[in-house]
Amino acid sequence: MACSHPTNAPHPKANSASTTIKGGTKAVAEGTVATFSVYRGTAESGEMKTYQVPVAEGMVVLDAVHHMQANDAPDLAARWNCKAAKCGSCSAEINGKPSLMCKTRMDALPLDEPITITPMKAFPVLKDLVTDVSWNYRVNERITPFTPKSDDTDNWTLYQEDVERVQEFRKCIECFLCQDVCHVIRNHDKKNDFYGPRFMVRLASLDMHPLDTVDRLQAIKEEAGVGFCNITKCCTEVCPEHIHITDNAIIPLKERVADRYFDPIGKLKGALGLNKSRK
Ligand code: SF4
Ligand code: SF4
Ligand code: FES
Repeated sequence: MACSHPTNAPHPKANSASTTIKGGTKAVAEGTVATFSVYRGTAESGEMKTYQVPVAEGMVVLDAVHHMQANDAPDLAARWNCKAAKCGSCSAEINGKPSLMCKTRMDALPLDEPITITPMKAFPVLKDLVTDVSWNYRVNERITPFTPKSDDTDNWTLYQEDVERVQEFRKCIECFLCQDVCHVIRNHDKKNDFYGPRFMVRLASLDMHPLDTVDRLQAIKEEAGVGFCNITKCCTEVCPEHIHITDNAIIPLKERVADRYFDPIGKLKGALGLNKSRK
């Protein structure tokens, strides 16, 4: 099933304020001023306010937010740290699409219409563009951490294919954009039933780790609610680390759960206590 989230629509091509330069990328014409429509307020009440920002080559949306703070709105709340797409702090929705503000280039946006910046919809607004993402940390605490055998720490053997499989998941920067776009959380507010794609990634990294000893399939099926995912792949499409969340994490977890609980031989092995999670 393909992602049908409205934010998934490709951005319109840049307008006449941009010109083609070598390599096919866009350069912003000198003197271009972008109009932003930015959410100002709290969870209870707020409004979209308009700001004008001069655009320079190489500029990202976070630069524009800093310009607004420096010139027009010193009390505009926005979270950021690294400005290098690595800390996962500056998540917001740009033209409705969950995005990192520090990774969204101005020359990739249509400059002939207002650019909207709104807080992540799936989480409560604290102020302006800052949301309360603490639910994610509470989910994280419910996952049993990596638990290797206690008696063979000097003799671990890891095969390269196992390392690579788990390594992809370790790239997660916890931006929670995947959590924000997932309709199970965003539209249906199933936070009590479904851990969300970020934590399917963490569970996969643990369940596929050859040295982890915990049998996690019941928790993946019951507490984490892997069955709520209907594989729309919206999460994969917004992940700034390009983690193949659905193909490499969620679908294999679903297959492991199906083998254990819905395959007759798997069920029989489970009843006999022979069907530990394969690593
Ligand atoms: S977790 Fe599943 S349902 Fe949610 S966005 Fe990803 S693929 Fe879609
Ligand atoms: S899996 Fe990707 S989108 Fe989700 S929190 Fe990690 S880095 Fe962000
Ligand atoms: S400021 Fe760190 S990811 Fe954007």
